[in-house]
Amino acid sequence: MQLTDLVHDYLSQQLKPGDHALDATAGNGHDSTVMATLVGPEGHVIAIDIQEAAIAATRTRLAAAGCLTQSELLVADHAQALASLCSHNAQTVSAITFNLGYLPGSDKRIQTEPESTLPALRAASELLKPDGLLFVIAYRGHDGGQTEANQVADWMQKVQQRGWTVESHEPIVTGTRVPPILWVARKN
Ligand SMILES: C[S@@+](CC[C@H](N)C(=O)[O-])C[C@H]1O[C@@H](n2cnc3c(N)ncnc32)[C@H](O)[C@@H]1O
Repeated sequence: MQLTDLVHDYLSQQLKPGDHALDATAGNGHDSTVMATLVGPEGHVIAIDIQEAAIAATRTRLAAAGCLTQSELLVADHAQALASLCSHNAQTVSAITFNLGYLPGSDKRIQTEPESTLPALRAASELLKPDGLLFVIAYRGHDGGQTEANQVADWMQKVQQRGWTVESHEPIVTGTRVPPILWVARKN
């Protein structure tokens, strides 16, 4: 099972009609569409990506699934977007996804960086309601990927010390390839 499928399994147990959810790295919109389907027309999903092309792809996927009504799409840096959401939406969000790295098939220079990922995670921790779930998938094979994953791991350790429940999942791979890693963190 792919880590993204595992995230979707968790989401289907976590999200209920009417819930609020946030996709901090919308990409092609797979996670946003799963979330928007689960929260239904009475819920709300915010999908953020720094690339206009990613938000356009996400809009197309949401429209095909009949989920545009409950979706808000933002072309923005997630650190800035999440920080500005905090003032009015603290402790309202049931699930937040981060799928780090670059969008396959697009410009690999546009990738997540710890300088914005870490502030975005801090803002995400404020936006989540108690019992809310935070998902972070990090890819470690590209330049900067391992460094970013190490910083996320340190951050996860800190929230665990604050009482969050944190688990990590790493698929077993053959050869020398470094597998991606998924953290699932439940706010206390
Ligand atoms: C691995 S892809 C996400 C895949 C996506 N979850 C999907 O379902 O297709 C990572 C995405 O993060 C976006 N990204 C990179 N830096 C960002 C930032 N600072 N703020 C928001 N999005 C960013 C990239 O444009 C890219 O689309």
